[in-house]
Amino acid sequence: MTPWIQKLHKWVGLIIGLQFVIWAASGLVMSLLDTATVNNQHHLAPAAQALPWPEAEISPAVIVARESRPVQMVETHWLAAEPVYRLSDGVSSWLADIRDGSSVPVTAADVAAIAARDYVGDGRPASPELMQENTWEVRGHTGPIWRVAFSDDDATTLYVSGQDGTILERRNDTWRLFDFVMMLHFMDYTRQQDFNNPLIVMAGAGGLWLALSGIWLFFASFRLGEFIPARWRPRRELTVYGADGGKLRSVESHSGDTVYLALGRNGLQLPSNCGGGQSCGLCVVRVRGHAPPPSSADRMHIDATRLRSGYRLACNLPVTSDGQIEVAGGAALWTERVATVVSATAVTPFLREFVLAPEVPLGPEFQPGAYLQVHVPGYRLQRNDLDHPELHRQDWSSLSLPENLVCKEPVRRSYSLSLPVEKAGGNVTLLARFSPGRQGKKQQPAGKGSTYLYSLKPGDRVCFSGPFGDFAIKPGAKEKVFIGGGAGMAPLRAMVHSLLESGAEERIHFWYGARNMREAPYVEEMEALARKHANFTWHLVLSEAAEHGAGLIRGLVHEATDEGLLQNHPDLKSCEFYLCGPPAMLAATRSLLARLGIAEEQVAYDDFKI
Ligand SMILES: Cc1cc2nc3c(=O)[nH]c(=O)nc-3n(C[C@H](O)[C@H](O)[C@H](O)COP(=O)(O)OP(=O)(O)OC[C@H]3O[C@@H](n4cnc5c(N)ncnc54)[C@H](O)[C@@H]3O)c2cc1C
Ligand code: FES
Repeated sequence: MTPWIQKLHKWVGLIIGLQFVIWAASGLVMSLLDTATVNNQHHLAPAAQALPWPEAEISPAVIVARESRPVQMVETHWLAAEPVYRLSDGVSSWLADIRDGSSVPVTAADVAAIAARDYVGDGRPASPELMQENTWEVRGHTGPIWRVAFSDDDATTLYVSGQDGTILERRNDTWRLFDFVMMLHFMDYTRQQDFNNPLIVMAGAGGLWLALSGIWLFFASFRLGEFIPARWRPRRELTVYGADGGKLRSVESHSGDTVYLALGRNGLQLPSNCGGGQSCGLCVVRVRGHAPPPSSADRMHIDATRLRSGYRLACNLPVTSDGQIEVAGGAALWTERVATVVSATAVTPFLREFVLAPEVPLGPEFQPGAYLQVHVPGYRLQRNDLDHPELHRQDWSSLSLPENLVCKEPVRRSYSLSLPVEKAGGNVTLLARFSPGRQGKKQQPAGKGSTYLYSLKPGDRVCFSGPFGDFAIKPGAKEKVFIGGGAGMAPLRAMVHSLLESGAEERIHFWYGARNMREAPYVEEMEALARKHANFTWHLVLSEAAEHGAGLIRGLVHEATDEGLLQNHPDLKSCEFYLCGPPAMLAATRSLLARLGIAEEQVAYDDFKI
């Protein structure tokens, strides 16, 4: 449950967090404003001495009897200094002369006198203006309204009822500011000051959920042991074995550490792209003996069969007692290798091939399908340090990259071998895609690892460790189907070369998807291999409609493979599948294969998570 709560917590937190900032800031502004000023008390004249009510010449009962409208209430009233009756039908009110009962209109002169009696200050009133349409400053009032603006510093404005001459509102700039921040505070953008509006209810519920999920995540992501200094915690011994069962070494750890941390402290850096964040799934180890129940992060990255065999994410595996674990990388985990860059060749605008000559010859464990962890040092680069050939100038100039590209701390990134080591004369060949960061309005920093690789020039030194991974060609001569896209070309290309070089005679199909011809790497190389080896076929699938030329397959690679090969294949059960590409392509292809009834054991894949 934790990973999706983490994601949701992050996004809800962003939205509610913004609202919290608005709530806090608007609440602060409201509390700093002087209430008397907001209510315009400083421009309010003291109440005038009540005038004696004159002898009425006509009684209210007679007036009511003469009225054509129903009258609910009659009361004595002063229109400026003029005594009148105010009559009301419950909805609106009007004035009647106390001498003859005739209707008394509220004139501009009356309004000017009313405003002058109400106001103290330096401002001079403008001529009263009968409003054509009521504005938000007099929301809540109906009927005709007069407006009198004063020329003081606060822009005082009085609103007088056109029905009975009463002052409805006293507004000024401080009130206007107060009213604006109150709108933000209540999230009531209709300015009705409604506490029950749906937005505020949603934000309140979201805030409560955020607090509760935060408490959950706090307890889920911290272990009690982490609050106690390592030296006060009991010592434990972790014995590390290679995947072949050979003992590698024993390391000392403290109860409460994660296996990832314990090994790291002892110089054994497990493969990781997320630095122990439980999101890359690369730090998998196998617990010998009794493994703890799998967590949700374990279940997300490790399939059910491997979970049953005791595989767990090391960054989520606490050390509680002396224990034994198996690491797939074996002794390679301790080995840091150094290589010199031989060449960096732009294969497509954003796929670059790097050939690295290692200082010490590589062993047979560097097999197609394996990946290395390139040690990316902390760096500060200029945009110009990322070179590209003239023919890719337009592609690069359309990227929005900052002038300075910074990686504050060293990180490690995984890159697959893209050619068998023997075919590359003992060198390491990598194919790396440049991650420009999210472009457009939502700018995100360019990828740390790919930026570093793209700054490399021949002669530069690079450190790496490995090889790692269990993506490999299975023994036997079953018909093989390779399906890939993007940088997924790398391990698939290495595997295809390896098979054909070793004289494999089974049928081998390679279906590769790109958006357009410009973004498709090694097309000529694959066509040449297909011409040379009768058992190898190469199919390039392009998703952009404009690229639909003669002989090119258009569409999505998994659909094209389905139509062109799988639907009419006589015996899919005797095939092996090797997949590598962007997450969406990988997911779509895996679910297609599952729909076709192809067993999980027939499918091998590498998930780059990019
Ligand atoms: C087993 C394996 C094999 C692989 N093989 C290859 C290979 O052969 N070729 C290849 O090209 N790749 C390969 N990868 C992927 C590679 O390891 C990297 O993940 C990839 O190059 C991106 O790393 P990066 O350091 O450039 O980007 P990162 O810095 O890790 O960033 C990843 C993405 O997140 C974005 N981002 C960065 N910071 C933020 C932020 N603060 N908020 C939001 N987004 C952000 C970046 O723009 C980028 O798009 C492989 C991965 C695995 C697991
Ligand atoms: S280090 Fe990435 S999941 Fe463990």
